[in-house]
Amino acid sequence: MARAHLLVVDDEPAILTTLQKALSLEGYAVDVAGGVKIGEEKLKKRSYDLCLFDVMLPDGDGIDLLQRVRASGLDVPVIMMSGHGTIDTAVRATRHGALSFLEKPLNTDALLIAIETGLRLERAEKEANELRAATFGELVGESAAIKRLLEQVGRAAKSSASVLVTGERGTGKELVARAIHQMSPRAKGPLEKLNCAALPSELIESELFGHEIGAFTGATKQRRGKFERASGGTLFLDEVGDMPLAMQAKLLRVLQEREIERVGGSETIKVDARVVAATNRDLLAACEKDQFRPDLYDRLNVVPLAIPPLRSRREDIPVLTKHFLALAAKANDRRGIKIDQGAIDALAAHSFPGNVRELRNLVERLVILTPDDVIRETDVRDCLHGGASAKSQSLYRPGVPFRVLVEEAERVILQDAMAHHGGQMAATARALDLERSHLYKKARALGLRKTESDEDD
Ligand SMILES: Nc1ncnc2c1ncn2[C@@H]1O[C@H](COP(=O)(O)OP(=O)(O)OP(=O)(O)O)[C@@H](O)[C@H]1O
Ligand SMILES: [Mg+2]
Repeated sequence: MARAHLLVVDDEPAILTTLQKALSLEGYAVDVAGGVKIGEEKLKKRSYDLCLFDVMLPDGDGIDLLQRVRASGLDVPVIMMSGHGTIDTAVRATRHGALSFLEKPLNTDALLIAIETGLRLERAEKEANELRAATFGELVGESAAIKRLLEQVGRAAKSSASVLVTGERGTGKELVARAIHQMSPRAKGPLEKLNCAALPSELIESELFGHEIGAFTGATKQRRGKFERASGGTLFLDEVGDMPLAMQAKLLRVLQEREIERVGGSETIKVDARVVAATNRDLLAACEKDQFRPDLYDRLNVVPLAIPPLRSRREDIPVLTKHFLALAAKANDRRGIKIDQGAIDALAAHSFPGNVRELRNLVERLVILTPDDVIRETDVRDCLHGGASAKSQSLYRPGVPFRVLVEEAERVILQDAMAHHGGQMAATARALDLERSHLYKKARALGLRKTESDEDD
């Protein structure tokens, strides 16, 4: 294993020398700093496995330094040391995320144990994260389409070119974006995500580029943006089709120049983040309607990756079902549960407007609701169509958020209504006494229809 790299910040040169010697003897690589400012500079230059901060420093307070480290997004383990250890400072330090608190004069054994424990915890957490990422990054599928997609993902991962992942809701765009990052040479670097649909323009700007103190009301701290944080790694821009036009222009400039300025700042900062964007919108159509900048589209779409909807690759349904069944069985402590062929066939015949996510939710629901140890065709039918019996049951399920329940109910209603009118949107809208445009919007939001382009009945 590589040598762990430590940073010690203390104002007493004698302590720095002693610690540097003692810790180097134990096999650690040790950097030292005599104050807050130098400490911060060192932390910017390289990454450390663990830090030791004194509380009283000539140019500030070790706890402030700790706070600033956390605010900048670093979660390196920090041990605080102080000669004036009061319970109060110890509590403050822990509240700001210090791992432990050591009293001076330092006892070498206690110090070494604290460091070892800190490093071990950090390593365990990293491993757990990697494991989680690996399972999350698992793209399951047997269809020719998925195999081709996996090849494309592998090829795209090798380069640093921008990737645009497209596909309907729930097809696995985020999963693909993560897979690209994990398979790329940047896998050890950070993966930062920004959902462009969730935020207004000004907030997107400060999220992406960061801001300086006083850049706007409430900007009481300097903040690094996603671009800076993703340096050396990947920036995932989700729902990029919903990015406001003003922001699109700014993003384009950054992609061209590979440098940013924090909001309210004047310094230009070089960034080295690989961009993967995703959208369920038809960006070419959006370009034609002046809702998306064609030059930005070209920049993002260097490597296009289109994920086909689940209904066009039904061969994937059985493997995906088994995959999700195993996950849900484990999560819900129903390890013995199985699914029979009839049930799988029933699933494979469904159209899955909500794609893989819908299948995943459905399998989870089946695992929770099926009392037997085998899930059969009738269970699937009941679940899929809300079955006559299920419909008369309560729509309420404990623990499921209201928003999700309402969305499910809306989806069932619209699906049934559209099926009743043979997919004719105009007739469906009339029957439901809905504005046609509103029906389209709803249907799209629920994943029942794709894009504006299929609006003509
Ligand atoms: N091929 C696959 N193998 C395994 N799991 C998958 C696959 N595709 C999708 N999933 C799972 O389906 C769910 C939805 O995937 P994801 O969030 O990546 O979709 P999305 O396209 O980003 O959806 P949205 O457009 O709604 O944001 C996730 O739980 C994901 O893990
Ligand atoms: Mg997504």
